[in-house]
Amino acid sequence: MHISTIYMRMTLWSSLLIASSLSIVFEAQQVLQDAASSLADVQHELKIAEIIPTVIDDFAPSLLLNVTWPSDEPAELGNTINPKLLQKMPSLQLFDPLTSSSPVPASDMQYTVALTDPDAPSRDDPEWSEICHWIATNIHLTESESPILQKDLTEVMEWKPPGPPPKTGKHRYVFLAFAPANGTTDELNLSKPSDRQHWGTGEERHGVRQWADENGLVPVAANFIYSQNKKQ
Ligand SMILES: *[C@@H]1O[C@H](CO)[C@@H](O)[C@H](O)[C@H]1NC(C)=O
Ligand SMILES: *[C@@H]1O[C@H](CO)[C@@H](O)[C@H](O)[C@H]1NC(C)=O
Ligand SMILES: *[C@@H]1O[C@H](CO)[C@@H](O)[C@H](O)[C@H]1NC(C)=O
Repeated sequence: MHISTIYMRMTLWSSLLIASSLSIVFEAQQVLQDAASSLADVQHELKIAEIIPTVIDDFAPSLLLNVTWPSDEPAELGNTINPKLLQKMPSLQLFDPLTSSSPVPASDMQYTVALTDPDAPSRDDPEWSEICHWIATNIHLTESESPILQKDLTEVMEWKPPGPPPKTGKHRYVFLAFAPANGTTDELNLSKPSDRQHWGTGEERHGVRQWADENGLVPVAANFIYSQNKKQ
């Protein structure tokens, strides 16, 4: 074979090699960008719905929280769902969008998910707010598409389905996922609010933020829906 043919082949091979490794790099970059933008979307939607700062202080989500009811209705950052379809406890997926596509050793940290209603009895007059609907703990990161099994959850506050009263407009139902602020992988001993109304604080517009502070928890993910009584 002529020397220049060999040379040409080598050049061809190396450019193919470079091209394919570049495309891997671009793909990886795309995955990172998509993950970053979906996390930024969560923060953005929380601000638009005034969940930040009414319910929780500003934070940058680091995980995604998917919530799906047995009726197949998902929470999608502010979609509206009929209360009839929200009666049963939903299933959860809590995952890191940067690593969820490849099997990674799950963090041993124990996460906690809470559901709060800051709009009780209505968003204009939230004198009963917040209402504690649910606190579930013993949650670990989802490695694949599979949901966290309900039998593995520990309920600190039992599931109470959303029940917006007649003529009170749309309520925001806010799911927040928390991690221990000190990053401990020890089992958590969380306090149970003494009441659902005001999360037992006795103070209007108090709730999940105060409870999380007291328990050394910081928010890492969120999702929310709107729901209203059919009588308006
Ligand atoms: C989480 O929910 C979003 C929006 O509903 C969906 O596109 C995505 O596939 C879900 N992720 C997983 C891991 O199920
Ligand atoms: C958990 O906390 C409660 C009070 O907040 C306490 O009575 C109990 O002993 C604690 N349990 C453990 C295992 O630390
Ligand atoms: C970490 O925080 C948890 C929850 O507030 C607390 O129970 C635990 O004692 C803390 N652990 C350390 C090592 O500070």
